[in-house]
This record gives sequence, C-alpha cells and structure tokens, in this order.
Amino acid sequence: MQETLEDLLPEALLGFLACSTPQAWVEQALQNQTLLLIDHAQCEKKAASTAMSLMYRYVDRPLLLTKMSQLAREELLHFEQVIKIMGERGITYRHLSASRYAEGLRRHVRTEDPERLVDILIVGAFIEARSCERFARLIPHLDTELAKFYRSLVKSEGRHYEDYLMLARRYAGNESEQDIEARIGFFAECERRLIDSPDETFRFHSGMPMTA
Ligand SMILES: [Fe+2]
Ligand SMILES: [Fe+2]
Repeated sequence: MQETLEDLLPEALLGFLACSTPQAWVEQALQNQTLLLIDHAQCEKKAASTAMSLMYRYVDRPLLLTKMSQLAREELLHFEQVIKIMGERGITYRHLSASRYAEGLRRHVRTEDPERLVDILIVGAFIEARSCERFARLIPHLDTELAKFYRSLVKSEGRHYEDYLMLARRYAGNESEQDIEARIGFFAECERRLIDSPDETFRFHSGMPMTA
C-alpha cells in the first residue's frame, strides 16, 4: 500500500505550511533528478552552516547551542549521504546558484535582537518543514534507494522543524504568544508566495515552474 502524506509527516507540519507543494513542481523535480540531488546536497551544507552561525552569535543560550550543534552534525551527515548517492550515480557535484527561497524569507528578518533571533528561528522552521513536505511528496515516485533515504530525511527534518519552532517560542523575549503567532503567520504567507508564484529556476525550494 502506498504511504500517504499523513503517514509520513508529523501531524502539525501540514497545518504549519500555508500551501502544499504544487504537483507541477513534483513533476519538474522528477524530470530533473540530477539537479535535484546537487541542489539537495547544497541545501544540507547550507543548513549545517546556518546552525553553526547561530552557535557563534548566541553563545549564552545553552539549549540553542546543544540543539544547533546536533542539527549541524545531522545536516553534515545528510550531506555525506547525498554525496555518496550522487557518486554511485555518476553525478558530479558542481556549484549551483541559490534559489530565491531562503533569501526571500531572510530579507524579512528584523535587525535587532531578540527579534532577529526569533525570526531566524521561525525561518528555519519553515525551511525545514518545507523540505520535509517535499521529501514526502517525492517519495512515492522515487526509486527504492532514494525513497528509503528520503524517508529517513522526513524524520530528521521533521524534528528540526519542531526544534526551530520550540526555540523561537522559547526565545521570544517580551513578545507575547499572540505576537509570535502573528510573526509565524507573516512568514507563512511569505513562504506561500515563494512556493506558489512562478519561478524561472528549478531548485529544491523553487516555486511554481514556468510553462515553456
Ligand atoms: Fe538535512
Ligand atoms: Fe534539517
């Protein structure tokens, strides 16, 4: 029996995201699996480095340090796993331009702490949640090896999403629960636009494919 998204994803995750990945993106990804894997490797590396930069900046928050250190290690392990699969498939790792996605979210991050930290953590939660949802959407269509790998990633990226969100709520400072929810809602809408609007460049987090 084929797994449904509900079987694969943590319960709250689908509600957290304001839209589903368009089917057209799934089809585009399946037709561009080489590019998908290269960009995926890139994303794992970037995820590790984002976590590490938080460890440099916020040294006085022990829980954040522990969580980000664990997360960085896991992302680097994912990176190694993608590189290994690429090697077995004869895919050469090359540099790719970044998609508009992460920058499209980060440009809304407030400049003063602790608001800055809270926003970075919320953005982290969205990136992890979207990655998790995209892996889950792809799984039913992939070969056995990649499907198995992506199934394991759905679990860890799902955990990363939960950790980022937990940390955002924890370090909210003077912001009320409503403020945080409003901020999450704001980023949910930004994220939805990046996923739903036409995007020229196919990447792991790209938007709606442009029709030729
Ligand atoms: Fe990862
Ligand atoms: Fe992750």
